[in-house]
Amino acid sequence: MTNLLIIETSARSSSISTALAHEFIEKLTLNTVELNLKNRNLNSDQLENLDEEMTTALRSGVKNPTELQAKTIAQSDKMIGELDAADIILIAAPMHNFTISAQLRTYIDYITRPGKTFGYTEAGPKGLLVDRPVYIISTRGGQYGDGASDKPNPYDFQSSYLRHILSFIGLTSVEIIAANGMDMGDKPQAEGLATARTKIDAIVKAKASELAA
Ligand SMILES: Cc1cc2nc3c(=O)[nH]c(=O)nc-3n(C[C@H](O)[C@H](O)[C@H](O)COP(=O)(O)O)c2cc1C
Repeated sequence: MTNLLIIETSARSSSISTALAHEFIEKLTLNTVELNLKNRNLNSDQLENLDEEMTTALRSGVKNPTELQAKTIAQSDKMIGELDAADIILIAAPMHNFTISAQLRTYIDYITRPGKTFGYTEAGPKGLLVDRPVYIISTRGGQYGDGASDKPNPYDFQSSYLRHILSFIGLTSVEIIAANGMDMGDKPQAEGLATARTKIDAIVKAKASELAA
């Protein structure tokens, strides 16, 4: 059984990134990968932005937490536990303002936690999560290339940011599945979806044969 954590980060009920992420999951299942699914939906289960009380709880630790601090720590622990339990992490991420949605930004505030997911050594910061594959389905209204790190598009801050923050907490095996041109009309959208689906198919095929071996 493979534990797959899907993180849905779009505010839209007709989200294309979420739909593509579910196609990814269906294709894995069709390729006989047995999945134990955990869904973290940042839209239906909204996280509160961190204020000072909450930030203190997560960043400094508190001996006698207030009710709000205890709730914040419990939410953070739960979401870090979900990451820890996952064999595969799948993030459905629309590009917002050249980077990530507010929902995903807040989620990152909760899971990037000193002593839990990162620490500092004499050599500098060290990610504390055990690495595992992270697939990011990135839908974009416009055109920003494929999100690969070797030839980055200068305005695709989303891919570079996500790669960096995930590696900061230990997750370095990140692959971007870009769906470009989602808001540019029928033809560019169809082409963007086809490119994303081709990449999903290749990843699913490789993953299925790796797990079957
Ligand atoms: C608040 C907001 C900001 C956006 N910013 C960008 C952007 O910077 N670049 C871009 O290409 N598309 C941008 N878009 C368009 C979305 O990336 C695009 O519609 C995408 O397909 C949405 O994915 P979803 O259907 O999963 O929500 C933005 C959309 C919203 C709602």
